[in-house]
Amino acid sequence: MTAQKTIVLLPGDGIGPEIVRVAVDVLKTCAVEFGHHFEFAEFPFGGSAIDAAGMPLPPETLAACKSADAILLGAVGGPKWDAQPIGKRPESGLLALRQELGLYINLRPIDLRPSLRALSPLNPDRTQNVHIDFVRELAGDIYFGEHRVGPDESGERATDEAVYTTAEVERVARYAFARAEMRTSRLASVDKANVLSTSQLWRRTVTRMSADHPGVKLDHLYVDNAAMQLVLAPAQFDVILTSNMFGDILSDLGAALVGSIGLVPSMSSGPGPSLYEPIHGSAPSLAGKDVANPVGTILSASMMLRESFGLSREAEWIESAVDRLFVNRVRTPDIVASGTTRVGCAEFGERLRAEMAGAAKAKRS
Ligand code: NAD
Ligand code: IPM
Ligand code: MN
Repeated sequence: MTAQKTIVLLPGDGIGPEIVRVAVDVLKTCAVEFGHHFEFAEFPFGGSAIDAAGMPLPPETLAACKSADAILLGAVGGPKWDAQPIGKRPESGLLALRQELGLYINLRPIDLRPSLRALSPLNPDRTQNVHIDFVRELAGDIYFGEHRVGPDESGERATDEAVYTTAEVERVARYAFARAEMRTSRLASVDKANVLSTSQLWRRTVTRMSADHPGVKLDHLYVDNAAMQLVLAPAQFDVILTSNMFGDILSDLGAALVGSIGLVPSMSSGPGPSLYEPIHGSAPSLAGKDVANPVGTILSASMMLRESFGLSREAEWIESAVDRLFVNRVRTPDIVASGTTRVGCAEFGERLRAEMAGAAKAKRS
């Protein structure tokens, strides 16, 4: 069965364009091999859109995203725009896009690949079986409450409002329970219910919903303890459900456990098209040097094939080729180690496509 899909590309800033280019070549190779038709349409977004159009999310970019079959994003932000106030920054464009598309689920898989175990900062006895799915709420919390700055006798006074409603917690928790049921049926919900009203609502709601999911073993952890447990014994976790802010922080911690933030993909979903992006940022110090790790973006593209297009064979083909490159010790600079071959971002992509082609040929003959 051939698929015909329109994929909107938002390369963004910093290393964004370099890593998206590699992932697009991988998708093109996949289309040729399996006879699919992927149409790519690139749009300005983030800091580069501020420079070109005076705003981080131009209306044409938003319109294209709304009518896409899926969206692939690199990263946004950088020192050039750091002095901009909230609302006018590249990152505000990303938040606006998430809000406009109603992307309330953010799935961030933290998988320790056996061939990369030596890269984990943890002792090997703690890193057996680290496969954690972070389900991060993405459309609410302190990110989307009112942000105010005003005068104070000491200088200034700033406030950020955190808001959750029952419905907002329910919809993301429903996804997390379902995800846990597809895996090993363990769900850890992370909050700060000893201090925050939003967290108390969160915990009440998740607890009530667990009655409808008797097969799922639900635990609640305070976020401070969750951070510690992730380092002490990451294998205890299967699916972790968190609010927007805690999920942002803990998923970077998770990325460190598996060797590099450059390895971790994500999917953001809501009622319309889903958005796929690596969890890292624009890494300004690496931009333009051909040293960024493109794997988080490549795995975001394979997640797109599986989750948005139902093309799991194709996703598997890409992911197994990534694994074989690692087994063959091909590494970008962030994950290089003695006895491995150091390659740049573009060459990693070329070697990956050669590996994919080789596997396809072997299967045909
Ligand atoms: P960052 O994720 O860009 O970088 C953190 C560290 O990880 C740096 O040492 C960087 O060199 C390294 N790193 C990141 N991606 C890598 C990759 N693919 N390969 C190898 N190493 C990689 O986070 P930061 O430095 O805190 O933020 C930089 C900019 O990115 C800021 O403007 C921030 O707001 C923005 N940001 C954007 C997103 C996004 O677009 N989704 C996410 C996070 C940060
Ligand atoms: C991420 C980023 C964003 C977030 C920023 C850039 C708005 O850190 O996608 O993890 O905090 O959600
Ligand atoms: Mn983040």
